[in-house]
Amino acid sequence: MYRSHNCGELRITDCGKEVTISGWVQKGRDLGGLTFVDVRDRYGITQLVFNMDEQADLCTKARKLGREYVIQATGIVRERSSKNAARSTGDIEIDVTNLNILNESKTPPFTIEDESDGGDDLRMKYRYLDIRRLPIQNNIIFRSKLALETRKFLDSEGFIEVETPFLIKSTPEGARDFVVPSRLNPGQFYALPQSPQTFKQLLMVAGVDKYFQIVKCFRDEDLRADRQPEFTQIDCEMSYVHLEDILNTFEGLTRHLFTHTLGIDLGDFPRMTYDEAIRLYGSDKPDLRFGMEFAEMNDLVKGYDFGVFDSAELIVGICAKNIAESYSNKDMKELTEWVQRPQIGAKGLVYIKYQEDGSIKSSIGKFYSDEVIRSWASRFGAERGDVLFILSGEKDATRKQLSELRLELGKRLHLIQPGVFKPLWVTDFPLLEWDEDTQRFYAMHHPFTSPRKEDIPNMLNGDHETLKNIKADAYDMVINGSEIGGGSIRIHDRELQAKNFKLLGFTPEEAEAQFGFLMGAFEYGAPPHGGLAFGFDRLCAVMNGQSSIRDFIAFPKNNQGRDMMIDAPSSIHDDQLKELYLEVKPES
Ligand code: AMO
Repeated sequence: MYRSHNCGELRITDCGKEVTISGWVQKGRDLGGLTFVDVRDRYGITQLVFNMDEQADLCTKARKLGREYVIQATGIVRERSSKNAARSTGDIEIDVTNLNILNESKTPPFTIEDESDGGDDLRMKYRYLDIRRLPIQNNIIFRSKLALETRKFLDSEGFIEVETPFLIKSTPEGARDFVVPSRLNPGQFYALPQSPQTFKQLLMVAGVDKYFQIVKCFRDEDLRADRQPEFTQIDCEMSYVHLEDILNTFEGLTRHLFTHTLGIDLGDFPRMTYDEAIRLYGSDKPDLRFGMEFAEMNDLVKGYDFGVFDSAELIVGICAKNIAESYSNKDMKELTEWVQRPQIGAKGLVYIKYQEDGSIKSSIGKFYSDEVIRSWASRFGAERGDVLFILSGEKDATRKQLSELRLELGKRLHLIQPGVFKPLWVTDFPLLEWDEDTQRFYAMHHPFTSPRKEDIPNMLNGDHETLKNIKADAYDMVINGSEIGGGSIRIHDRELQAKNFKLLGFTPEEAEAQFGFLMGAFEYGAPPHGGLAFGFDRLCAVMNGQSSIRDFIAFPKNNQGRDMMIDAPSSIHDDQLKELYLEVKPES
């Protein structure tokens, strides 16, 4: 028997018992005649004590233990004289009578403690050591619990989990495909699924009615803190549903997950249309943990000979409460430089301070009298002590810039309370997005998304401007400014699907070659259906108040898409290349 108890289990009530534990040496301390060793496993840390006077050999052996040695210790549980309230086992220690070294360890390349000294790439190279750290382990345990609760809830709602293939044909979700060459079919390739979108729709045609899958998806896109090339979705689809049924079901799932993992009741989710979100927050995933809604000012500020505003398509501002006195000229200069960085791209930042004494301080006093500026305050609900930040320029760009500024101010002014969750449904997304560079429409969600019923005639017959304004039965779930999930009611009619492909620039032949299987299935009695997919890694991170999904994935890739531990991607042998009918590189 390697252990009678784990390292997080023993309590004061166990005093006097003989126990055996196994684990890794976290650290040792020699204090004169006594040597203390902390032993760690997944469950916690327990202190071992060795007494030089009583058992010199054992104590000498303990003093030679290195970090991360794997040991087994037997001894008697006793009360500690100096207790450690921060540890569940902090009231006791084990007076060791037998010590067994199960395996030695090289000195680890970084400290395996809650706060590690290892950089990202080093931690990923030795991920198996990183996962020994309790914070990462807790993330992985949280993820497992979240998956289990997801399955429990969806099972109780009558969903069945169906696996769909990984070696498929391209499914467009807006990224590039990872492709896999086929040895048995020379010159042909599979694509790894960007999502199981077409398969889950086919399962609806097949009568599965309520489908889900916790599934890996693969997208070859630029990586960020909240994006990995392979990530996991909770993917769902339902038949005979309207938008309302879907929102209710998955609001229910989200609330279940929060209640059963964090003990938090999210309440009813507010809803906002895409247009509203863009107008009020400049973003389709607004962070509602703080206010600072946008207020548009075109009607207030034009016509005063201030060229910048007169020539702007949009003048829009936000109000920061109670900072007029504390926000210095230096702060203002720093913020102006921040919005002028190429990543944000604003030309300048206009500010107005409604000072506590009733006076006005602003960067545009030359053009507007104090009286005029005072008259703007009501649009923002601004009072003495508040500051307005105003940006102007082309509509879409200016909104994006102000959205970034709002989030930055939220951080700088500490407006976001930790542990607060603000969910939101964003609905009525546009169906199509016009791209000036390529002069074509793209699907805002994906090509299988249905327009709203009332927009179907516009989709079939509308001109360019009408098409731009068609709304889809598509929705996103946003929590704390992060897009957690998205979905739509689908097209289930062959003709309408064919029309959508045409609008997206596919010739009928191309559409048939790529998606004939789906359009064909629609001819055999496809039920009305819709669904959504949650980003499972993102949900884990957001629920734990973190922005990076990496530490919720056991073996993530770095920003270059590399697995640092197994060193992938890597080149393959010429023989393998030949077998796959891929070109062999000439000798260099
Ligand atoms: P969508 O493309 O919006 O929809 O993806 C759904 C959710 O998946 C998460 N996500 C990612 N997470 C980590 N890394 C990535 N690279 C990544 N890309 C997306 C996001 C996102 O909201 N088939 C549709 C769903 C549907 O219509 O039912 C789809 O995949 O949280």
